[in-house]
Amino acid sequence: MIALLGSLPLKAEKGFVNLTPRPKNCLVYDGTCQFPQKFTVGVSAELGDTAVLEAQRFVDALKASLTGYDISLAHSTEDAFIRVAPYTGSAGNVGTEGYRLVVKEEGITLTSLTQKGFYYGFQSIRKMLPAHVGLGLAGKAGDVYSLPIVSITDTPRFGYRGFMLDVSRHFFTVEEIKRFLDLMAIYKMNVFHWHLTDDQGWRAEIKQYPKLTTIGAKRSDSWDTDITLVDDYWWTGEGGFTGKPYGPYFYTQDEMREVVAYAAERHIDVLPEVDMPGHFVAAMASYPEYSCTPNNPPSVWTNWGVSTNVLNVANPAAVDFAKNILSELCDIFPYPYIHIGGDECPTDQWKTNAACQARYKELGLTDYRQLQTHFIKEISDFVQTKGKRLFCWNESITAGGSDLSLMKETGATIMCWNPCQDGALKAAQMGLDAIITEYHSATGGYYINRRQSNDYGEPTGAGYGDDTVEGCYNYVPVPDNVSAADAAHYIGVQATFWTEHVSSNEYLEYLALPRLICVAEAGWSTQARKNWTDFKKRLTRDTEMLDAGRFVYGRHWMDDYVHRVYVNPIKDGAVVTFTNQSGDRPRCLADNNGTLNGQGNECTNWLLESNGKDGEYYIKSCESGKYLYAANTASGSMVSLDAKKMAWTFDETTMSSYVAICPVANTSVAVNNNVNNATHARLFAHGTSNGASFYKVELISSPDAVKEVSLHVAPTTEQIFDLSGRRVKRSKGEIAIVDGQKVIL
Ligand code: ACM
Repeated sequence: MIALLGSLPLKAEKGFVNLTPRPKNCLVYDGTCQFPQKFTVGVSAELGDTAVLEAQRFVDALKASLTGYDISLAHSTEDAFIRVAPYTGSAGNVGTEGYRLVVKEEGITLTSLTQKGFYYGFQSIRKMLPAHVGLGLAGKAGDVYSLPIVSITDTPRFGYRGFMLDVSRHFFTVEEIKRFLDLMAIYKMNVFHWHLTDDQGWRAEIKQYPKLTTIGAKRSDSWDTDITLVDDYWWTGEGGFTGKPYGPYFYTQDEMREVVAYAAERHIDVLPEVDMPGHFVAAMASYPEYSCTPNNPPSVWTNWGVSTNVLNVANPAAVDFAKNILSELCDIFPYPYIHIGGDECPTDQWKTNAACQARYKELGLTDYRQLQTHFIKEISDFVQTKGKRLFCWNESITAGGSDLSLMKETGATIMCWNPCQDGALKAAQMGLDAIITEYHSATGGYYINRRQSNDYGEPTGAGYGDDTVEGCYNYVPVPDNVSAADAAHYIGVQATFWTEHVSSNEYLEYLALPRLICVAEAGWSTQARKNWTDFKKRLTRDTEMLDAGRFVYGRHWMDDYVHRVYVNPIKDGAVVTFTNQSGDRPRCLADNNGTLNGQGNECTNWLLESNGKDGEYYIKSCESGKYLYAANTASGSMVSLDAKKMAWTFDETTMSSYVAICPVANTSVAVNNNVNNATHARLFAHGTSNGASFYKVELISSPDAVKEVSLHVAPTTEQIFDLSGRRVKRSKGEIAIVDGQKVIL
């Protein structure tokens, strides 16, 4: 038997404070402060309503999590276990968002100058308590809660700590967005940048322009992949797989207001983006009269990339169209900024459009790009009448030919992605503020949708596999050689997530986590306080919170984590054979002696062993040197072990229903439930696309309603498919497990 492993949950460590982002100053002392079963949170009478409101929300959150505790709010600090009072030190120490938190054995004192500061102080208390408290989940009756003895003075490095989500290429529900807002709040991020529109879909209800959602929120087809696939995409819409269009998917104005309100409770502002005049095909498909090709309307785009089909910025009616859209959004989103995109806007159509040519002449321009600058300036003047200022992507100042003096007049905040640092420096030197969201660099970046490694089992996605978690963490948002005067314009950082390659919420979570947390720390903690080793320790502890919240995340980045694998079921001491079907990927598992097997197509004689406890097994990963863990295993039969499970969390309840297809041959196949080999399903041919065959499987003897699963496989591939509805699109290239003659995965 192999010697095993650290135990779960992870144990408390002396001097360790599980607080991410790392606070500005934190002194840790011996001892702990244990929460009494009955206590009050007392707000000083000197504080106003907003502090009381924040304290009440904190009390409500603790009541929800500290099951069995008697917790109340008092309007005096006398005899309170948690005292909430004005900060009396130098204002510069805590600023407008900071706080001071002193935890002694006998109680806790939180002081601040602002409502936000109190909120973040309360969040710190919750974060240092067991994982479920930060999430607002209920604990068990009888649980004991304590904090380390600490003295913290904290304030964020940057005022803007953002997360951008593209909901055009893939639509996320309000509930899915709220999950991210919850995470942002735990990590003290404060701006949700909502990329609401793009070529591939319009997602915001605009009352004056209903076609934006009746036409623009739907596309006929979608080139998709998902978290279960390695190097594989397929058309899911009319062109192939489902035969159904993607959408219509959009948020009603009430839903957008609901998101704003939910975010506001977490002190998160929502920055809406309408990307224009480029990345505007969904709008042009809906209202082609405002495009440069009214007689040749485009369709909502199904390709990824940059379209030449853009708004006709020389048509006053088209500019009014843009203004009217923004006007409705200005009413919904209280944040005093609105983002109008401006990235990747080809000028091709303007160059050949009569109205654009005339306007070019009339304004005496020297480059067609300047039409875009004039458009931005006009929109800027317009939104200022609504009390708003603009955000624009960095092309507004970095694209050749832009009118920089006009851009300067807009006072826009420049969101810098590519070239990020050059763009930020240029913005600063123009006197404009800059947000750092580096798309990719040799030293890391903040586009957290990109592939984070080239490990076997890493799902298909954008990028080269070198946008690692460590690179993301270590990326320096303000390089040392930026002068203090310029650095004052670097007002924030943002984790940015584009969804061209992401077709599910779990895939979003897997790629975003933990890199979102890296950017959160970059936003809050000073450069001097950042330390990868220390961060990784805290991140590892946060696996408890991510697990409790059932988040999918890049677990393989955590230290000392025992990866869980769901086994169905295995014989103690059984010898099993793992085959890498693709033959072109590094081996992901090591044998029980720790030997790495990185060559060839097969790794044989892997011994899974019991840890001596009923139904628990381990196997070691050679990639990470970590062990895989198999729980709830009855002795005596097969293991169903997916290499990807090393990296991903899965929902246990959906892992049971597999169907083996051995082998697939045109339309007639044996489809067996792997548990008892009874026929439970039928396979139907479903057409071809991109040279691959598509099949449809229906469960025919399930007590449930028929579940339909579409498969994308070469006809002779032997495979097993998960019919749970969660992970239904498998293709070849996975690690297979051979049991006798039968390939079961
Ligand atoms: C961008 O990534 N096109 C801003």
